[in-house]
Amino acid sequence: MHMRVLILAVTLTAGLAVAATAKPIQYELPEETAELAPGPGLDVAQANCVACHSADYISTQPRNLRDPGAFWTAEVNKMRHVYGAPVEEADMKAIVSYLVAAYGR
Ligand code: HEC
Repeated sequence: MHMRVLILAVTLTAGLAVAATAKPIQYELPEETAELAPGPGLDVAQANCVACHSADYISTQPRNLRDPGAFWTAEVNKMRHVYGAPVEEADMKAIVSYLVAAYGR
């Protein structure tokens, strides 16, 4: 039991020592190449949906949804109400229609 505590203490101390001397890591991110799929409403989706994150966040969502309209409506509402995306109510229909057609099935 004591041995375990000692090993933990040594491990933690070693970890702190490494953290104290570590230099910030610099690395190049690959260039952003993801693009939204073409289709009616692409312009409005482009204007509203790629400011904060890559189009990959959208294109990697599950397909063959039972109710793509409900899924994408909920998703856009989450962007608005949880993450603060400034999506105009008037643009909702066009954005959701675009998402359903391009990524719903
Ligand atoms: C104000 C910033 C912002 C805008 C604008 C925005 N999003 Fe997001 N989005 C986020 C954040 C934050 C996350 C979560 C990121 C994470 O988990 O790493 C996210 C995640 C997502 C995801 C991944 C699944 C999930 O629910 O976390 C999808 C899909 C998505 N956004 C779609 C959209 C669509 C469609 C639009 C356009 C209507 C949009 N986003 C606009 C901030 C934004």
